[in-house]
Amino acid sequence: MKGLILSGGKGTRLRPLTFTQAKQLVPVANKPVLFYGIEALQEAGIEEIGIVVGDTKDEIKAAVGDGSQWGIKITYIEQEAPLGLAHAVKISEEFLDKEPFVMYLGDNILKSGIKSLVDEFKEKKPNSLILLTEVPNPQMFGVAELDGERVKRLVEKPKKPASNLALVGVYMFDSHIFEAVNAIKPSWRNELEITDAIQYLIEHGLVVHPHLVSGWWKDTGKLEDILDANRLILERITRQVEGQVDEESKVSGEVIIEKDVRVENSIIRGPAIIGAKTEVIHAYVGPFTSIQKECRIVRTEIENSIVLQGSEICDIGSRIDESLIGRETKIYKCPPKPSVYRFMVGDKSEIGIK
Ligand code: TTP
Repeated sequence: MKGLILSGGKGTRLRPLTFTQAKQLVPVANKPVLFYGIEALQEAGIEEIGIVVGDTKDEIKAAVGDGSQWGIKITYIEQEAPLGLAHAVKISEEFLDKEPFVMYLGDNILKSGIKSLVDEFKEKKPNSLILLTEVPNPQMFGVAELDGERVKRLVEKPKKPASNLALVGVYMFDSHIFEAVNAIKPSWRNELEITDAIQYLIEHGLVVHPHLVSGWWKDTGKLEDILDANRLILERITRQVEGQVDEESKVSGEVIIEKDVRVENSIIRGPAIIGAKTEVIHAYVGPFTSIQKECRIVRTEIENSIVLQGSEICDIGSRIDESLIGRETKIYKCPPKPSVYRFMVGDKSEIGIK
């Protein structure tokens, strides 16, 4: 069985971060989202993975390499434009070479991994197995209508949903999916939709099984979801302090402090992670915060947030909460006179002040 991870796309919902960075490389608990997917496939025993890449291919290749860091083989498949999930399958036909495969959306994280699903797929041998989860707002998702052990119909963002079971970003297929992706036509948004391809399988008498996800699942395509995923992953960490914490500081709960970190006269309350070479000085870092390497947090309070590599946050008067701060960003207090705010902010940024 092979793996196919989709790591192209536009990432419009995560601008401005995605103007300069692949959304699949945004870190959750200081590890790129994409690595959680690769590890889930590797743990399920998959040794050959194709990664579909788009405009951000160089960055993805630099981070992932040839897969040897996980003991697997990675092949890159270039998609000329984000023409849909089913288009990504279509261009991967040669790589997949008629083998059954798992398709995994590169910005998704599943709590319990995918091993049990891969085992179920291998044992029951349906033509496709799709993952479903109960959601409160099915109108926003691809929704499945079930008939016992089979999927009867899939509808993309239905106005009147027949169930509250939404499609999760992991799918399993045998080679019949290529008949489907080669037969369907682009949707109104000019994409080849995977829901249309699966619907094609159903209408042509092929067997599509549902599998309800146990444990949480997160699509990290939006800010709130990345922060949620960060919270959920940090809940699982265990304390490990490698950097230096001075006598005046207090570190409580599950906190990872990486090498060459300097914590001075500060409070860190876990779960939280502080990346290598970061300085935390006269500061408070509260629960569910991930700070990447080489940052400076000085006379500032922050919680429920993610700070990317090389950023500096100094002398902020109020507590920073629920924020995602890009790489090498500087946030600091202006001199008292004149009493002004001073910004140099990239396109499509978002700033909230009180
Ligand atoms: P989406 O999050 O559905 O799409 P997107 O990345 O274009 O984001 P946005 O809606 O914010 O503009 O994509 C899910 C995953 O699949 C994501 O990792 C990107 C990837 N993808 C491809 O590789 N090729 C594609 O053609 C599409 C549509 C998505």
